[in-house]
Amino acid sequence: MPKTINVLFLAAEAEPFIKVGGLGDVAGTLPRALRSISNDDIKLDVRLVIPHHPAVKADLKPLGMFSIKRGDSEIQIEASEAILNGMPVYFIGGEPISANGSVYSSNAKLDAEKYIFFSLAALELPRQINWQPDVIHANDWHTAISVYGSLTKRWEGGERHVASVLTLHNLPFMGPDSSSIIESYGLQLAQTDLPDWARVMPLPLGLWASDAIVAVSPTYGNEIMQPEYGCGLNDFFQSRRETVSGILNGLDTVSFNPAEDMALGVNFDSTSLEKRAPNKGTLQSRLGLPVDPEIPLLAMVTRMDVQKGVDLALTALKSMKNIKWQAVILGTGDPKLEEAALDLQAMYPERVKVETRYDAGLARQIYAGSDMLLMPSRYEPCGLSQMIAMRYGCVPIVRAAGGLNDTVQHGETGFVFQKAHHLSLLAAVKSALKVYSDREKWGIMQRAGMAQDFSWENSAKKYLQLYQSIIKS
Ligand code: GLC
Repeated sequence: MPKTINVLFLAAEAEPFIKVGGLGDVAGTLPRALRSISNDDIKLDVRLVIPHHPAVKADLKPLGMFSIKRGDSEIQIEASEAILNGMPVYFIGGEPISANGSVYSSNAKLDAEKYIFFSLAALELPRQINWQPDVIHANDWHTAISVYGSLTKRWEGGERHVASVLTLHNLPFMGPDSSSIIESYGLQLAQTDLPDWARVMPLPLGLWASDAIVAVSPTYGNEIMQPEYGCGLNDFFQSRRETVSGILNGLDTVSFNPAEDMALGVNFDSTSLEKRAPNKGTLQSRLGLPVDPEIPLLAMVTRMDVQKGVDLALTALKSMKNIKWQAVILGTGDPKLEEAALDLQAMYPERVKVETRYDAGLARQIYAGSDMLLMPSRYEPCGLSQMIAMRYGCVPIVRAAGGLNDTVQHGETGFVFQKAHHLSLLAAVKSALKVYSDREKWGIMQRAGMAQDFSWENSAKKYLQLYQSIIKS
């Protein structure tokens, strides 16, 4: 009989139920990847729990009602369930979740109300369904209070030991000062070794309470210990460096497969790269750009956010007056950046097409049809676009930050530059254009990228080892 490890995996969003960003990709895939590495010795019973956001689209089976105490009253929880490829997925509904429609709003206080409620309700769920987790695996600030709540409840009530992992997808987002909300659920704010400003925020409290802290790439795991990336918690991470590690996210290689991707006009693999050409032609014409296989087509598929260095790319492109190029930028977010991108399009209407929306199908056609992907991120915990691009034969030009540094090899699978400055990016684009003009060299680079193994299996095995080590200790 294999030994079973029960894992409750908490996240604010998860594909295919609801997705806003990269966290949704990870939470939708990693739990299933973990279940599938079960073997004769060990069985991983991972179950996902997410908020029942009003926008969740799924056929859910009601599981029942229960409540948690807040101040002198009780808040009702409506739990329901869906099964995703054999994995139970639980949905937590309740007033703080339905009151605040969007997954992430601009109202920090409302978000804190929602996610602290969610975290504590999810912690109570196992008792209701008679299934006890050995590990609580939380993600980002939204679910961090589950880890904090689990630890403090254990101290108070002598409950059974539950090991905990908190994965960091985006450190700067720590949640607002939530002391009054946390205390209203009967949890005390502990004496911690956190900086004073941090000891009232959900993410730092969760980090402080968790047995293991995981960054979504090895480089990001090191970066957060440095002042430049540590957001004021670098000394805290240093002081517990034995518990901090970096595990690279994977990619859903079944869904992102240019040989089978239904969104593409023509499918291809690394032995039929010439079939990218019709995809490029279709893309150029769909975008209203001159259809010409020779003009290098640069792409960005991104959240419009300063994190992503969109401004650096726009400035670099603006200065490329005397060479031939085209660019497509797909993404939404910061209205100022969207506007700046549209300004570039107005300046170069024959070269630049900007689409300020989320369009998964177009994104796939961009990966398959463009020549280079620009990702000049100021910081990048892991990053997904560069991995998809490589898998689709689109060569990434990236800054040496976080997961970009761990997934792209300069001169082999892409181009890596150091400084978050448009001139540094520009120099990298120029070296890329030089290689691009030598089609044989370019093909070698495309195939090297396509040959990388970005599957989830590697990461899942590392998480399993981590679970085992924290359960033991
Ligand atoms: C966040 C990070 C991104 C990472 C993703 C999933 O969106 O910005 O780098 O890939 O989370 O971990």
